[in-house]
Amino acid sequence: MTRTITLSDGKKIPALGWGNGSGGMNRNPDKALSAGVIALKAGIHHIDTAQIYLTEVAAAGAIKEAGFTKADVWVTSKLGKQGLSVDPKTIRENVQGTLDQLGFKPDLYLIHNPFVAEAGDGNIAKLWTILEDLVQNGPLEGVSLGVSNFRPQDLKEILAVAKIKPVANQLEFHPYVLTHLQPVLDICSANGIVIESYGPLTPVLRHPTGGPLKPILERIAQRVSKEAGKTVDPTSVLLLWTIQKGAVAVTTSTREENIKTLASVDGLPDLTADEIKEIEETGRKVHYRHYREHMEKDFAVPDLPSDL
Ligand SMILES: NC(=O)c1ccc[n+]([C@@H]2O[C@H](COP(=O)([O-])OP(=O)(O)OC[C@H]3O[C@@H](n4cnc5c(N)ncnc54)[C@H](OP(=O)(O)O)[C@@H]3O)[C@@H](O)[C@H]2O)c1
Repeated sequence: MTRTITLSDGKKIPALGWGNGSGGMNRNPDKALSAGVIALKAGIHHIDTAQIYLTEVAAAGAIKEAGFTKADVWVTSKLGKQGLSVDPKTIRENVQGTLDQLGFKPDLYLIHNPFVAEAGDGNIAKLWTILEDLVQNGPLEGVSLGVSNFRPQDLKEILAVAKIKPVANQLEFHPYVLTHLQPVLDICSANGIVIESYGPLTPVLRHPTGGPLKPILERIAQRVSKEAGKTVDPTSVLLLWTIQKGAVAVTTSTREENIKTLASVDGLPDLTADEIKEIEETGRKVHYRHYREHMEKDFAVPDLPSDL
């Protein structure tokens, strides 16, 4: 079974995605290509790439080398250079860069972060309007538009002018950032904007101790293992939690064994409502973020400990 999430424009995005922008693949197209082939063959038919990763060519190459066609695979890319001059010609050229690198249209195109538009009042809104125009009358026809690392103020700015609302906001999303993200989540929920979670495994892999979720995730992993009849680890529990919260889980690995574990999440039984609640309530008591450069700028973090 492939779990999917329906976007506000009706498209169904696979709920589990594999990214080629981390794990040593960023700016390393050879590694992104070989790991991409493994991920696709393992059954993850959703690649997350971006201009600034320099891995768009590798994403397209992996689809071909794995023996798939574009129709078999969901591809997200992102408009990425920082401080772009917000004029139609510059933006069109940059969008064309993605189309040339991929050799096809992505399914979803995101503004990588609010700082892609050069600083200036109203520039994020202007950038959104130019992208809308490229969807309505240009080379992005049929492509879903979204954003990434957008804070409340950025979302409000584009929603005030949007003819097409963003379908997704890709953020670091896991239980330890829930309290901080609540204002963003509220705006997204009110406007049908799906959360795409990057860094979903941070509580298990990057938090120095694992924090208060560690024993809870381990206990739930044992419960799910019994039901599934095979060993299920806490990383899989976190990915199930992410997806059952209605977010797309954009994870990654370059190791075949770990990729197979990630791909197997689609076949696992659901967490119970009580398990989802326990993870969420525990996570909300902590603030721990791995990627800090965008979401902590002019968006106050809560006064919470990073561990209990
Ligand atoms: N929009 C943005 O600004 C933004 C920012 C960051 C990331 N992203 C996207 O999100 C993708 C994923 O980001 P992320 O790396 O932060 O995601 P993550 O899911 O939190 O972490 C992935 C890491 O987990 C490890 N891993 C995976 N499965 C594992 C397992 N079963 N056991 C132990 N370790 C495991 C992998 O290492 P191994 O390779 O060693 O297995 C990998 O380096 C990126 O590639 C990119 O496409 C977007």
